[in-house]
Amino acid sequence: MKKIFILFFISFPFFACSQEKVSLKDKFEDYFLIGATINQEDYQIIDKDEKILKIVSEDFNSVTPENSMKWMHSHPEHSKFTFSNAQKITDFAKENDMYLLGHTLVWHNQVPDYVSKIEDKSKFNLHVKNHIFQLVTRFKGKVDMWDVVNEALNDDGTLRETIFLEMMGDNYIEKAFQYANDTDPNVELAYNDYNLYKPKKRKGAIKIINSLKDKGIRIDAVGIQAHWDLHFPSIEEIEETIVDLAATGIDVMITELDITVIPNPYELAGIAREEFKKFEGDKKWDPYQSGMPDNIQKKLTNRYKEIFELFVKHHDKISRVTFWGTTDKYTWRNENPIRGRTDYPLLFDRDYKKKPAYKALVEMDLSNID
Ligand code: XIL
Repeated sequence: MKKIFILFFISFPFFACSQEKVSLKDKFEDYFLIGATINQEDYQIIDKDEKILKIVSEDFNSVTPENSMKWMHSHPEHSKFTFSNAQKITDFAKENDMYLLGHTLVWHNQVPDYVSKIEDKSKFNLHVKNHIFQLVTRFKGKVDMWDVVNEALNDDGTLRETIFLEMMGDNYIEKAFQYANDTDPNVELAYNDYNLYKPKKRKGAIKIINSLKDKGIRIDAVGIQAHWDLHFPSIEEIEETIVDLAATGIDVMITELDITVIPNPYELAGIAREEFKKFEGDKKWDPYQSGMPDNIQKKLTNRYKEIFELFVKHHDKISRVTFWGTTDKYTWRNENPIRGRTDYPLLFDRDYKKKPAYKALVEMDLSNID
């Protein structure tokens, strides 16, 4: 009896300690990769915020550069490439043995003005080809997967009118995937978009995937961005999205997960995004400036729990779940779609502390999810 008692006291601290040490990446190790982003804009956290890098290395096994590989940062002038920030993130990811995303090669946003001034179609095509060649070559053997094309669809499933569509034609997505594959046949290639829970848009994405496959052009994965809120999309809609996309036979990934808890004017009839500026400073759209109320904290925790239960249930289809950021302090949600707000969409708070949602995830009982 005495022996058992002593044994208990000796082993208790180790037991308690090992319980506490479960990280997100360990918790979901048998199911999917767990990712975060590292940013450079405004906060320069690659160099300046050691605490972020500590969180990323402790809890995550996949990294996406939140901005550094985008066109405006990697290729700011016609014949000038700047890779220093992207390289820092790459070094960090490789030192920590993490899966690295290349985000993103062809996207209508964050493209420098000079691109739209290339008037000749064949020169434009060559320029895009060279952009893809330079980035994919520069990070060959380092980047594990490229988001080759980002956000090519309208919500009704038609192709968004972008400079790429206009200058390269309807098959610009095929060309982009072909150029990426020709440059590095070993790196994985993905299509990434938001609002795929909307049936028409999802149909559009499936059409893109199937048409690439029919033409023998390689696509390995599709990314569901997952900038969601406390209520939408529903768990059923998310499940349908995962199941439908997986039925194409390629990997499904959750690429940009965050759950906004403050109101957003997206669906306001007749208001264009540029007009959201008029809501800046209005407390109606920024209700939790001095802290998140307990009931909202609980809702966020439950929402994350339900979402992860679903992801685990479909882990055979999902290869990676990436959060868009690490802490509420730096989330893009504070600036988008209305600037200067206080949002709480992630698992770490403004003081870098783990939120109840984090704890709920690492303590989830995964044994009876099917
Ligand atoms: C966002 C970044 O988080 C911001 O820092 C930047 O100012 C704008 O872009 N979809 C995407 C991401 O694919 O690249 C976007 O990232 C968010 C929406």
